[in-house]
Amino acid sequence: MKKNNSNKNVIWHQSMITKESRQKKHKHKSLIIWFTGLSGSGKSTIANALQNKLYENNVSVYLLDGDNLRHGINKNLTFTEDDRKENIRRTAEIGKLFVDAGIVVLAALISPFQEDRMNARILFEVDEFIEVYVKCSLHECELRDPKGLYKKARKGEIKQFTGIDQPYEVPKNPEIIINTNELSIEECVKIISSYLYEKVHLMHHKGGDHP
Ligand code: ADX
Repeated sequence: MKKNNSNKNVIWHQSMITKESRQKKHKHKSLIIWFTGLSGSGKSTIANALQNKLYENNVSVYLLDGDNLRHGINKNLTFTEDDRKENIRRTAEIGKLFVDAGIVVLAALISPFQEDRMNARILFEVDEFIEVYVKCSLHECELRDPKGLYKKARKGEIKQFTGIDQPYEVPKNPEIIINTNELSIEECVKIISSYLYEKVHLMHHKGGDHP
């Protein structure tokens, strides 16, 4: 784990159990898959389906869903740019603890700003952070409008809504892009799980069989 506190009186206490030994116990690498995209693009749906698939394959996996975290640890945060920054920072730090514990983490948050996503990325080792851009046109997200929020945002009942009166910055260099305008949930899950098993060798301690 990286040590990072400007107060010299706060001293890091090194754990005797390493991340590597925890990974061995779980029989796979640990990493974070960061889903970003507009509200209604399919982040939570795909992350949930991927979680099921990994779980069935004996992967120790846990989903950090933006909406759910906003009911607990992030319940004091709004949707201003500063609060979104803090939302992403906390979630990334929680994800880092899970990765240190040997778990595969799925994080599904709009995370609309490039800088905030970059700050999340740099907390992790190079091959531990996999950014998945869940690409879907605003038009399609508005048609889906699963929670009726776009309708409210268009009427001005919700302010600072991503894509309406706050921007979404498209990821410049995500590891994976899935276009949910065109692909089924199963196809999206397949693309990500193939990447995990073939490119990052998720199951390297086990021999790397692809389910
Ligand atoms: S993030 O921008 O800070 O990453 P997060 O993913 O946690 O956002 O939360 C987004 C969810 O909050 C949306 O899926 C939607 O259900 C709800 N929501 C409520 N108000 C807003 C808003 N102003 N902008 C975007 N999402 C909102």
